[in-house]
Amino acid sequence: MTRGASSIRELMALPTANLVAEADRIRTERYGDGVWIRGLMEFTNRCACNCLYCGLRRENRKIGRYSLEENVLLDAARAAFDRGIRTFVLQGGEDPLWTTDRLCAIVRAIKEQTSGEAAVTLSCGIRSPGEYRALRDAGMDRYLMRFETSDRELHECLRDGVSLERRLRALRDLREAGVEVGSGFMVGLPGETEKTRRENLELCRDLELDMIGIGPFIPNPDTPLFAAAPGTIEETVRMTAIVRIILPDANIPATTAAGSLFAEGREAMLAAGANVLMPNITPLSVRMLYLLYPGKDTIRQDGVQELDEIAGHLRALGRTMRLDRGDSRSSARRRGVAETAAARM
Ligand code: 5AD
Ligand code: SF4
Repeated sequence: MTRGASSIRELMALPTANLVAEADRIRTERYGDGVWIRGLMEFTNRCACNCLYCGLRRENRKIGRYSLEENVLLDAARAAFDRGIRTFVLQGGEDPLWTTDRLCAIVRAIKEQTSGEAAVTLSCGIRSPGEYRALRDAGMDRYLMRFETSDRELHECLRDGVSLERRLRALRDLREAGVEVGSGFMVGLPGETEKTRRENLELCRDLELDMIGIGPFIPNPDTPLFAAAPGTIEETVRMTAIVRIILPDANIPATTAAGSLFAEGREAMLAAGANVLMPNITPLSVRMLYLLYPGKDTIRQDGVQELDEIAGHLRALGRTMRLDRGDSRSSARRRGVAETAAARM
């Protein structure tokens, strides 16, 4: 079932219960009961950007900054790999200390250390097309970069002068580099309207994303948006469900932000089409410092040790923990098309 431009508007008019039921049906049809695990490593909290909503923004002097050494990352990846995890997400701010050469080297090292078995996802902001290609050549499989909001003015204001066009160009560059592309948006940013949310959904569809990250905005006391109202769980769930309906083959995580702001936020997302969880495997010594927003719900125990707990919890929800790579069905389809085209040539 494909849905045209007008139907996002129609979907947005439906009651939440209907959206959730349809999204859950589609998720079951495409991905079964699986919930795929990604080991998240927050490798640097240094950032050259100054996004108004984010605790890692350049002008926030209240947090201690860190950047992990390669051996620390490789140890964390090894422990997670030994426990069965087959996807690593290296997430960080736009940190000039992490040159492309350095990033390529760590990608190569993780690939080597795991005999090429693990998928490596990077998420470290806007880089040049040549840099994305170099990372792909080093073995990078996927890249995550939310567009945050599709409203041009709001984007430029909240990202302190960085235009939406730039972000979208970088997402196109990633697509051209041939890696799986993830993006997404926050729900309930100050100044956002129903039209913004509709256009966020349309943009996800038009970008044909392989992965979509959606989370509620959470005001951070150390940012200019300290007094703004947070996003709601209802809207977050609605957006998740609609994204599953319009992009049935995408991987959709139940995000940390949803779990931090609402007690059962992640469970609600899993019930509304989400099929991915990203437990934090960053060494505990620096975990407290990656404070995008307050109350971040990953500062408990080590993500690797947590796996048994997660498996049990998912089982109680009628879901199955999956540790394998879990490539998106959309990327498999894209690869299939490319192979068929090549065979015809
Ligand atoms: N509330 C919720 N999500 C946030 N992010 C950054 N700051 C906040 C906040 N205050 C999200 C952004 C970014 C991702 C890594 O974290 O969407 O892309
Ligand atoms: Fe940096 Fe990302 Fe935070 Fe913006 S949202 S300040 S780019 S870490």
